[in-house]
Amino acid sequence: MDLADLTRDLETLRDDALEAIATASDRASLQALEVDILGKKGRLTLVSRGIGALPVEDRPKVGAIANPVRQAIEAAFTERDAVLHAGALEDRLRTETVDVTTPGRPVARGTLHPSLEAMREIADIFARFGFTVYESPEIEDDVTNFQLLNIPPDHPARDLWDTLYVDLPGHLLRTHTSPGQIRVMRATRPPIRALLPGRCFRYEAVDASHDFEFFQVEGLMVDEGTTMGDLRGLLDEFARAMFGAGRKTRFRPGYYPFTEPSVAFDVECLVCGGAGCPACGRTGWMTILGAGMVHPVVLRSGGLDPERYQGFAFGMGPERMKMLKHAITDLRLFMDDDLRFLGQFR
Ligand code: DAH
Repeated sequence: MDLADLTRDLETLRDDALEAIATASDRASLQALEVDILGKKGRLTLVSRGIGALPVEDRPKVGAIANPVRQAIEAAFTERDAVLHAGALEDRLRTETVDVTTPGRPVARGTLHPSLEAMREIADIFARFGFTVYESPEIEDDVTNFQLLNIPPDHPARDLWDTLYVDLPGHLLRTHTSPGQIRVMRATRPPIRALLPGRCFRYEAVDASHDFEFFQVEGLMVDEGTTMGDLRGLLDEFARAMFGAGRKTRFRPGYYPFTEPSVAFDVECLVCGGAGCPACGRTGWMTILGAGMVHPVVLRSGGLDPERYQGFAFGMGPERMKMLKHAITDLRLFMDDDLRFLGQFR
């Protein structure tokens, strides 16, 4: 074997290969051919073994002959494969049809949880009056949840908040969002217009109107010369935005340790319009929140001088807003995670 023999073998192989490639009729046979020629035990590999039998001085020249042969064969494979692929596509296009008028599969769209949606609605309304949303911790200390809000230990008012304690001395799951008032007053200076939405927890006997987990939205305004008239005006605007215009509202005396005086804020029944029906307990009114003028003790807890500053606060349940609006009769539905219920709110 000399260089001339090897050159001739390679050229023969190239011509055979190009011929076979050009006439391969489908991609499967082209692939088989590729293994047969370029594979580990393929014909090109076998011919190349002849290099070992060449005189030593000829060996460096082999590359110049063998490489163009390999490149020509590889290029022919690539080109032929592209042609066969296009042909296969054309066949499919000829034989298969696509009905572009078939309706698409419906896409399941998510919705906000109604409690979150209600909190956003409430925040949007109060934002128009300059209220900023703050966050306050869900695990609270006893001092902030109760004592700084004018509810000392052993005070009977604690009976209003059935409490879940956590395994950390002096701490509990907040029973309301009101402790956020203290945190806001300590973190900022008047004028304060704060909204505190968030999750609250109580040790409750669960029924249609009590759950152990629910949301609240707290509001706090503190400034010089803030009056109950300001509170009333703001809440009237809120009721109008939330439940529509033309409904009467009223303040009823109430009791909360952290406000003095305290009120319940009622709106004319959304179902009967004030005539009296089962939904409003035949009173014609629905209570939508609790409110009052911030107690001087609470202002002092927040580091403010009650001689200089006055404020009002209110607290409402976003679930209650949804229940009133949509005549939902069971609070537990909100935490049941049943999509048939949750998916009804857009
Ligand atoms: N924290 C009260 C509750 O959980 C709700 C509330 C009532 C908050 C009156 C207030 C308020 O800020 O002034 O029942």
